[in-house]
Amino acid sequence: MALLNILNYPDRRLHTVAKPVAQVDDRIRKLVLDMGETMYAAPGIGLAATQVDVHERLIVIDLSETHDELMAFINPEIIWTSDLKQISEEGCLSVPGIYDDVERYEQVRVRALNEKGEPFELEADGLLAACIQHEMDHLLGKVFVEYLSPLKQTRIKTKMKKLATAM
Ligand code: NI
Repeated sequence: MALLNILNYPDRRLHTVAKPVAQVDDRIRKLVLDMGETMYAAPGIGLAATQVDVHERLIVIDLSETHDELMAFINPEIIWTSDLKQISEEGCLSVPGIYDDVERYEQVRVRALNEKGEPFELEADGLLAACIQHEMDHLLGKVFVEYLSPLKQTRIKTKMKKLATAM
């Protein structure tokens, strides 16, 4: 396994729209493991392929404290959303140190392929639902800060650019 480089906002590549995974093969299974390792090392609870500069529809999530419940969602689609929405504080490995409130559907039903290429469906609520929506936004080239006010976005960009220069 290998640690992958995570792109930092406002890197333009984060705005790339991902293409569907054509085939769930060993390359994809290795990518799932590498993304898992990268996410655990960061540490974070979710990571989209977009964030490691791979523009294919793949996300990984693990909400466990023990880091042993890695879930891969390949070619994920949201097939149902609740009427109710929830607001919760989000962060992102591509926007380190920034946390803010985002409104999301409280529950979603998602259909995807697992790392064996088998289809599955999952109904999620709370943190998992928010996380799935956050990661799937990445596949559309959208970073959570884009839900914030233009003023906040400008401030975050400035802060991130300073951080990049300091490194
Ligand atoms: Ni993110």
